[in-house]
This record gives sequence, structure tokens and C-alpha cells, in this order.
Amino acid sequence: MKIEAFELTKDDYAPLADLMNAVYTDNLSTPDEMEYFENSREAKCKSYKWRLKVGDEWAGFGEIRNVSDFYHPDKYWLNMVVHPDHRNRGYGQALWVAIEAKARELDAIKLRTAVKEDWEYALRFCDKQGMVEMFRGWESALDLQNLDPTPILAQAEKARQSGIAIKSLAELRSDPDRDRKTYEVSVETEMDAPSIEPITKISFETFVEHTFKNPNFIEEAFFIALDGDRYVGTTAMWLTQGHPERVYTGLTGVLRDYRRRGIASALKLRGLEWAKNAGYKETVTWNATINRPMLSINEALGFEKRPAWVEYHYIMREEACRSSA
Ligand SMILES: CC(C)(COP(=O)(O)OP(=O)(O)OC[C@H]1O[C@@H](n2cnc3c(N)ncnc32)[C@H](O)[C@@H]1OP(=O)(O)O)[C@@H](O)C(=O)NCCC(=O)NCCS
Repeated sequence: MKIEAFELTKDDYAPLADLMNAVYTDNLSTPDEMEYFENSREAKCKSYKWRLKVGDEWAGFGEIRNVSDFYHPDKYWLNMVVHPDHRNRGYGQALWVAIEAKARELDAIKLRTAVKEDWEYALRFCDKQGMVEMFRGWESALDLQNLDPTPILAQAEKARQSGIAIKSLAELRSDPDRDRKTYEVSVETEMDAPSIEPITKISFETFVEHTFKNPNFIEEAFFIALDGDRYVGTTAMWLTQGHPERVYTGLTGVLRDYRRRGIASALKLRGLEWAKNAGYKETVTWNATINRPMLSINEALGFEKRPAWVEYHYIMREEACRSSA
């Protein structure tokens, strides 16, 4: 067994995807998606990576990186996996020792990571390292072939009657300010999503890179709620190349002054009908377990909850954590 710090090169994406997909079996990624994700990282977001090899085989991978949506130079997202065939041999612990030492050298404030609540071995591992559970988010899925919009039809109709129109970005191509207005409504509403860390308002350039240039972006399935020519709400369906029969539901958000008027319901309805008509079998989404507004709508639509993702924090500098939270 050998652990080496490394930087990703073109040839690494295929073995890395194989390794990650052996662990994240419900959320598969392709090498192309991983390459896009790596190349679209903002320059200010640093990343440090390690691979654990047994012979030529990739048996483990670790990474700490700053993330755009929760940017702090001294806070890192931690990814760490050991291939199921190589577990219970101390490889995870060895990777963690390398990662933790680097994080100390960087004077990190904290590391964040997430594991599924039914991954008992991973929960035990996090507990053993002294990580603390901070937050939970449900992954939930809806079978699109059985989509029954009845429970939210009245709310959606309320939005329509108050003059709100729902259009896709494809239908809004003639608006010269479309991209900037999409950015504004997306970042403004995202700031209100429940989160344990302060959410960063990303720049327009980063939004363009992460949205319009994302290979999983669908112009016909990114929807805007309009009050005249004002963009007041949004929702979007995203491709996921490891699951061609599935679309992910991304952020649904409505400006504060426009809430409780049925606008999110109208947006969801349009998005789900698009996905069903396009032939997708299911949609998957993630919601904080404390996000009652969004959960209410998804529960009414029949989204079924899967095991939650448990977010753990590894606090390295308690004082700094308190002043930067
Ligand atoms: C979640 C969100 C999009 C809902 O938008 P909305 O347009 O206000 O939702 P709707 O008007 O369509 O609500 C439909 C139903 O959902 C439920 N609901 C909505 N907001 C609720 C709230 N604050 N508390 C309890 N139930 C709520 C109600 O049953 C409501 O019907 P009613 O108003 O007739 O009682 C909005 O609160 C928001 O933008 N939040 C911040 C961003 C966010 O968290 N997005 C989700 C990230 S996963």
C-alpha cells in the first residue's frame, strides 16, 4: 500500500470515477463530469489530493478543498473513500493521518464532510476521529411516471391568477439581461436556504461557469417565475450522466416578497412535467431536514425520503470557528 499526494491529470479521471462509483453507488459520476468539476474550480479554491494505491489499483482517495458556495480560505470540504474491497485494513486511518497533517500545516479552521446515515462504518470512522454531527439533509426521489400534481395544483393556479408566468431559459433567450437576472434570483434565494455555514454570494462569472457552462445544464429545463419582466423565482432540472434515466432537481427559490403565493409550486410543477414528458424516470433532490417550506411541497408531491446525509465537522481551531461562523 502506498499513499501519495498528487494532482489530477487527464488519465486519472477514469480510475477515480471507478473508485468513487464503487462507494457512491446511488450517485454515479462519469470521468467527464469529474474533469469538468475539477476544471471549473475557482482559482481561490485550493485543493489537496491523495491517492492510496495497492499495486496499480486505486484503493483509496482523499481530498480537502475550499468550496465556492461556502468560501473561507481556512475551511475545507473533505472527501475520503476506501474501495469496499480494501476496507478493514487500516487504509482509511492511514489516509486520514496524511490529510489531517496537511490540514494542520495549512492551519485549517475546520474540515466538513458528509456520510449517509446508514453507512455505519463511516459514522463510526467519523466519530472515532472526533468529528461532530452538525446538520442533516434528506435525499429524496420521485417516480416521474407516477407523477400526480393534484396536491399542488391549487397553489400553482394561485400563482398563475396573480399574474406570475413560468418560462424556461430557452423561452427567455430574447431577454438581453437573462443571464444576469437568472444569477441575481438564484444567488438571492440560495442565501435563504438553511445551512450550518454562512453561504457565500458567488460572482456572476462563477455562476456562469457553474451553471451555463456546466455539461449537465439544460436550457429548456431551467425555469424562471416572472412578474412582468422581473425574475422572482427559479427551479432547474439537471442531467446526471451516470444515471441517464434520472434528472436532479436543483435549487428552487422564490424572492422573499413573493413567498406563499404558490410560485414554488408552479415552478416545481413545470419542472416535473418537463422531466416526465422528456422521458426521465425519476428525479432526485436534497433538502435540509429543517427546510419545512421546501419539504412541505416535496412531501405533497410524493417524494420518498432516502437515508439522510449526515454532515460532520472536524473542528481544528475552536476560537477561529466561533468568530468566522
Ligand atoms: C422553499 C420556497 C422555494 C417556497 O416558495 P413559495 O413560493 O413560498 O412556496 P409556495 O407558495 O408554492 O408554497 C406551497 C405550500 O408549501 C407550504 N409552505 C411554503 N412555505 C412554507 C413555510 N414557510 N412554512 C410552512 N409551510 C410552507 C405550504 O403548504 C404552502 O401552501 P399554503 O401557502 O397554501 O399554505 C421558499 O421558501 C424559498 O425560496 N426558500 C429559500 C430557498 C430554499 O430553501 N430553497 C430550497 C432549497 S433545498
